[in-house]
Amino acid sequence: MTFDTIIRGGEICTTTLRTRADIGIRDGRIAAIDDRLTGAETVIDATGRIVLPGGIETHAHIAQESAAGVMNADDYFSGSVSAAFGGNSSFVPFAAQQRGQSVASVLDTYGARAARSVIDYSWHLIISDPTPEVLTRGLPMAFERGVTSFKVFMTYDLVKVDDRQFLDILTTAGAHGAVTMVHAENDAMVRWMNEKLAAEGKTAPRYHAESRPALAEEEAIHRAVSLAKLAGAPLFVVHVSTPGGAEIIAREKAAGTAVFAETCPHYLAFTAEDLDRPGMEGAKFICSPPLRDTATQEVLWENITAGTFDCVSSDHAPYRFDETGKFINGAEAPYPKIANGMPGIGMRLPWLFSEGVVAGRISLEAFAGLSATSAARVFGLDTKGDLAPGFDADIAIWDPEERWRVTLEDQHDNMDYTPFEGMEITGRPVTVLNRGMPVIRDRVLCAPEGQGRFIARKPLARAI
Ligand code: URP
Ligand code: ZN
Ligand code: ZN
Ligand code: ZN
Repeated sequence: MTFDTIIRGGEICTTTLRTRADIGIRDGRIAAIDDRLTGAETVIDATGRIVLPGGIETHAHIAQESAAGVMNADDYFSGSVSAAFGGNSSFVPFAAQQRGQSVASVLDTYGARAARSVIDYSWHLIISDPTPEVLTRGLPMAFERGVTSFKVFMTYDLVKVDDRQFLDILTTAGAHGAVTMVHAENDAMVRWMNEKLAAEGKTAPRYHAESRPALAEEEAIHRAVSLAKLAGAPLFVVHVSTPGGAEIIAREKAAGTAVFAETCPHYLAFTAEDLDRPGMEGAKFICSPPLRDTATQEVLWENITAGTFDCVSSDHAPYRFDETGKFINGAEAPYPKIANGMPGIGMRLPWLFSEGVVAGRISLEAFAGLSATSAARVFGLDTKGDLAPGFDADIAIWDPEERWRVTLEDQHDNMDYTPFEGMEITGRPVTVLNRGMPVIRDRVLCAPEGQGRFIARKPLARAI
């Protein structure tokens, strides 16, 4: 047999290619793309389907203690299964350093947790304690092991670093070609707003949005970019939620600064009004930065179309609507004590396909870029993110026409709600391969626990 698997007759789409052809897979890699291939043990009929690079989710919190110390509802099995049903064939969640913890211990901890993944994985290393030991030995060691991106928080007491520490991390990262990601919100502004709102008795979920104003994000993004420029290091700004933030990214990109950014579906699908749902329902929509308004959504879409964002990521941060998650501090907790984050790893790509491609806002080629190709380049997944001979056979086969209504069961995660419940979606992943092996086949999970492998990543691959 020439091939192990042939994907027959689908419409192949990448950032640079759109053609009806067959894909021949051998030894987990794409061996050929041609009009008509023959000679394989397995043939997957993709007639009427779209064949895309398997999605790469690069912002997900899986089996991780949050910035506030709360454990996520998803482990690497449920999280990776949900990701796969949502069209992803690999992901890069976070490995979070607790203060005082060595980098080796962080990587060991997450290595054990991630062994259950059904798709390939790596981690971004969150640094909360950049001691000399961490900077001179820990980070270089992580880098040697293929963990080529780090993340810092400018807010949240348990993890935040100050500007001086941020500069140290950027400098070490930059020297290795590692990318530093940043959660950018001005900590003092948020604390000041929390105190002000508390004094006024405003503690219901809906005040969460007011407590983290656009100004807090814009100021922090501007500062983060300035620090990165001073250090001469690349920067990736996560979950950009404001027009002002997007404007800074667009301007710096145009000027040639090595700055990358993402936004997330929830900033486009929901608004601060969702925080005002009856009772404590609004808690389901508490995430940081917070949901904004419809005018912001329009500007974020314009920036997606204009190429400001490299990725649209889920920021899957699953906390159940109970005392293990959202209400770990009590059922009536004031908003600052409700766990921050929304689930969505299974919805990122279906939602973006439906609202982006089907709704005519972005091309299918742009979808390929936002869902996989750019993430692979920025985060050094050099054998992933594209469909071409030599690349890993990480492939998502989509039915572009299926219309469906979102339910919690469809998510296959460990959550007890999905914010996307009831939404009408057009387009759905039906089959997902990871290194040629089916993870999802005709919408049925067929990968055993632990089929995913750790991916040692390369430095930032894009010329910057
Ligand atoms: O609210 C969010 N996004 N929670 C997840 C933790 C983070 O900020 O990355
Ligand atoms: Zn984050
Ligand atoms: Zn964040
Ligand atoms: Zn996050």
